[in-house]
Order: sequence, then C-alpha cells, then structure tokens
Amino acid sequence: MTTKKHHVDTKLGHLGLSPETNFGIPNPPIYRTSTILSSSMAQHRGDLPKAYTYGRSGTPTSASFENAVASIYQADTCISTCSGLSAISTAILSAIRSGEHALFPDSLYGSSRRFVTTLLSDLGVEVTFYPPRCNSGIKEYFMENTRLLYLESPGSLTFELQDLPSMTMLAKKHNIITICDNTWGTALHYPVLELGADIVVEAATKYIAGHSDVNLGIAAANGLQGIKLKKTARNFGICAGPEDLYLGLRGLRTMRLRLEQSAANGLMLAQSLTNHPLVLDVLHPALDSSPDHELYKRDFSGSCGLFGFVLPETISQERLDKAVEGMNIFAIGDSWGGYESLIKQAHIDSKLRQFTPEHSPGHLIRVYAGIEHGPDLQTDLFQMLNALD
Ligand SMILES: Cc1ncc(COP(=O)(O)O)c(C=O)c1O
Repeated sequence: MTTKKHHVDTKLGHLGLSPETNFGIPNPPIYRTSTILSSSMAQHRGDLPKAYTYGRSGTPTSASFENAVASIYQADTCISTCSGLSAISTAILSAIRSGEHALFPDSLYGSSRRFVTTLLSDLGVEVTFYPPRCNSGIKEYFMENTRLLYLESPGSLTFELQDLPSMTMLAKKHNIITICDNTWGTALHYPVLELGADIVVEAATKYIAGHSDVNLGIAAANGLQGIKLKKTARNFGICAGPEDLYLGLRGLRTMRLRLEQSAANGLMLAQSLTNHPLVLDVLHPALDSSPDHELYKRDFSGSCGLFGFVLPETISQERLDKAVEGMNIFAIGDSWGGYESLIKQAHIDSKLRQFTPEHSPGHLIRVYAGIEHGPDLQTDLFQMLNALD
C-alpha cells in the first residue's frame, strides 16, 4: 500500500487497486450497475450504513478513479464526469450564482468559452474576459460582485502562462473562488491546488486516459469547494461510464512515461522550429525565448507535447493545406494527449478572442507531439515546411 510519503510515480502504479478483496487480481473489476441492492428495509431507508446506494451516485469503479486523482492532486474530493467540458461547466456552476460576476481569460478553451458566453450568461452571470497575461493587474477587473476567477495556464491555442500564485492570492483577499483548467500541465507538472487555486479541472480525455479512445473529465478541490462540487454533480446527475473510468484509472499507470516522452518530443520540435526561416513565432512556454519562461521555470516541473507556431500569411491557404495533407506521421485532428501526433490550423476570430493575441499575425498551427520516435516527427514536420518554400 502506498502512503502520503511515497513519490507520486510510485502512487500512480498502485492507487485504486485492492487485490486483497479481488481474488489477488491486481486490476479492479469494472462495476456496471444502476441498481445496488440493500440487505434490509432499514438499510434501504438509510437507517443503516451502505457504501454505495445507486449507480449514478457512485460505484467502486468511480471511487477508485476519483480517489486516485484526488490523491495525486492532494485534494480531499474529486468528481469524475463524462468529458473535460462537463467537468468545467460543473465546476463553474458549483462556484457562481445569478447576479454575480465571473472573470475568464481571453485565451479560454473554445468550448468553455461557448458555455460561458451562452448558458452561463443566459443564467444571469455577468461575464468579463481579461487579457491572459494581465497577472497581478487582474485586480483592476474585480468588481463588488466578482465571485469567480477562472484560469487556464497556458491558454488554449496561444499558450500564454498566468501568474497563478499571485492571481489566486489576490482573489482570496477579495473572497473570490478560483478554478484552473490544468489539462496542459496535469497533476504531474503543475500543482495548481498547492499553488493556490481552489478547484482544478482537467480533461482526463487527454493525458490521463492517453489513448484517444475515451471522453472523461475530473474536478478536484478541498473543503467546502469539494462539497459544492459533489453536490452540483449530484444534482445534475453527472456520472462517467464504468469502462471510461476504468480506462482513466489504467491510464494513470503509464501517464508519467507517456507525458514525459510527448513533452520531450514537443519541446525538441518547438526548439528546432525556432531556427526555421519560415517560422515567425513558436508558442511554447518552456522555450527560453518565451515571454513566460520565468513563470514556467518557477511554477512548472515540465511541459507537454502541445504547442503552436506561426507561419507568414503570404503563404497561400491552398499551399498550406497541400503541405499539411502531405505529412506522413502527423494526422489532421482535434484533441491531444494521446499516443499519436496531430496537427491542425487554429483560426482565431472575434468569436474566440476579445483582445488581439500577442503573437505575429499569420497562419497559426497547433502541433501535438505524440510518443513516437522524435526524429521521425521532426523529419515529417520539416518536410511539410520545406514543401512551403
Ligand atoms: C484545455 C482544454 N480543456 C478542456 C477540454 C475539453 O475536454 P473534452 O474534450 O474532454 O470535453 C479541452 C479539449 O480539447 C482542452 O483542450
């Protein structure tokens, strides 16, 4: 059995397992159920204790996964949901009410932004977007009724880091709850709860599950925020499917290896792109040349395989399409955090940003470096760039 003292990598190999109650079999069974029987009427009434009451409200399968994630975040509560987006919307709705004001970074993940600008606003929450690099300037955005400060560091598509410790400290002073989307940093590289966030959300779809075959989300918190998370998820009837929870738990076993290989490939590619004559900017906080590098060194213990770069707008769309379609390993697609490398073009318009992003204007390309052999990825990416020359 692992204890609090063990390194997180040791914990990843053991959390959520109980072979002693499972015929010596290391991996837990998958409990598929809605009904959970009671042994007496008194137990069914709730007069006697019962570990699990109804499938939607929790099973040993959801508990194994949630307890494992709570443990790596050192949180007392974790909820699991059917997607990263549902973890985000549940966490937000656990922390804010009609008539209150919420702050979101302009670099917010697109589907989170849609939730915020449609449903959340329709519910009567006042929403303001702030420049992602405003850091301690965030206090200028606080209003009397501000109750939520949301962070995503780095931001989606444009990869700006945020000074999470100072922003969350300022928020605390003003009685404002903070939530951070930590899908990029993960519990292994960016301990956002320790750094001051009240609630962490992650698309477990990405590095936790890690094989591009699962949609899963987590939100974790301590104390009252954890209780509110649980209550909100329960009232919405949110629950993840048992197979997906099992795959999430299984993903944790190899997450460190996959994450480090993907991150190393991503950083190697990003570094090599900085020397390419066609590339205007490389957006990766772990690069020395990044304006966020000091924050990265201070708060992160590693990166991941996702980053962006900018190509001149003088390259025609037709040429770019052809070059990308000619790649051998990188496939064109959304999502990331799986084993396979992906590439896509990001289109940032006024629906996605209020403030103009700081990078050079041009074609914004998002790269996800998977866990393949790095030099093969580099050859593929550079062949694509050479086809543009
Ligand atoms: C930063 C970030 N957060 C959340 C999500 C949403 O996750 P899911 O696709 O599991 O809903 C994504 C998906 O791409 C993402 O990139």
